Amino acid sequence: MSTDQPPLTAEISALTGGFGIDIGGSGIKGAPVDLTEGRFAAERLRIPTPQPSTPGAVADVVAEIVESFGEAAGTGPVGVTFPAVIQHGVARTAANVDKTWIDTDVDTLFTARLNRSVHVVNDADAAGVAEARFGAARDTKGLVVVVTLGTGIGSAVLLDGKLMPNTELGHLEIDGHDAESRAADSAREREDLSWEKWAHRLQNYFSTVENLFWPDLFVVGGGVSKKSSKFLPLLDLRTPIVPAQLLNDAGIIGAAVLAAESPDAPRPPAH
Ligand code: BGC
Repeated sequence: MSTDQPPLTAEISALTGGFGIDIGGSGIKGAPVDLTEGRFAAERLRIPTPQPSTPGAVADVVAEIVESFGEAAGTGPVGVTFPAVIQHGVARTAANVDKTWIDTDVDTLFTARLNRSVHVVNDADAAGVAEARFGAARDTKGLVVVVTLGTGIGSAVLLDGKLMPNTELGHLEIDGHDAESRAADSAREREDLSWEKWAHRLQNYFSTVENLFWPDLFVVGGGVSKKSSKFLPLLDLRTPIVPAQLLNDAGIIGAAVLAAESPDAPRPPAH
C-alpha cells in the first residue's frame, strides 16, 4: 500500500474555492469562485436589487444567493462588493446608494444574517484586485490605476499588485465639478454625449489622474469597457491605457480573493 497521503479534499477546496457577491444599483450577483484560476466555479445567480435598497433588504438577497448554491457555496468567508467607501467593514459614504448605509457595519450585518464570515470591500477595489491577479494588469510591476466607468467612477490603486483601498478618485474635483458627475458612463447616457464628446471629458479626467499619480498602467473597467474601441483610441495620455479583461466577473472574483485573504480565512495546515 502506498504511504502517500490522499489529498484532503475539504482542505483543498477551502483553499482554492471562494465565494463572491457583487452588489450593484440594479442587480446583486454571486457565484462560487475558483481562486486559483480566477474564474467562476459555477454559473452566477443574479437577483434584482430590492427597492428601496436598505441594508436589511439587501442582506436578505445576499443570504438568498449564498444559500441557493448549497454545498457549492463552500464554508469560507464570503467576499462582497459595495459601491461606497468601506473602512474595516463599515460603509462610510453612499454616493449612489440609499443613504441609510452610511456608518452601517456591513461586515457584522451580513455575517449575522448568513451565520458565516463575510468580508465587504469597495466595488472598484475588488475589480482592481481581480484585474491585477487574473486580468489586464496581471504581472504588471509598479503602479496600476484601475478606473471603473459606470453610474459613478470607481478607482483601485495597486502597487506591485498590492491594493491601497478606498482611493475614491471618481470624486476628484475637476473644473469645479465632482469628476464622476461629468465623466461617468451615466453622464454620457444622461446627456446623450457622442463618443468624441465623452472622450474629451475622459481626456481631462485621465490627464488629471496621471499628473497626480504617474501610474505605469491604466485599466478601464465598468460595463462600457466592452466598447473601449469607441473611446480609448481617442485619448492621448502618456500612460498606457487598456480595457479590463474580466468585465462583469471582476467584482465577484476580486471580492472572493480579498475575503479568502482576510484574517478570518482558513489557513493551510502548518507542516
Ligand atoms: C463611489 C465609489 C464607488 C464608485 C463606483 C462612487 O460614486 O463613491 O465608492 O467605487 O462610485 O461604484
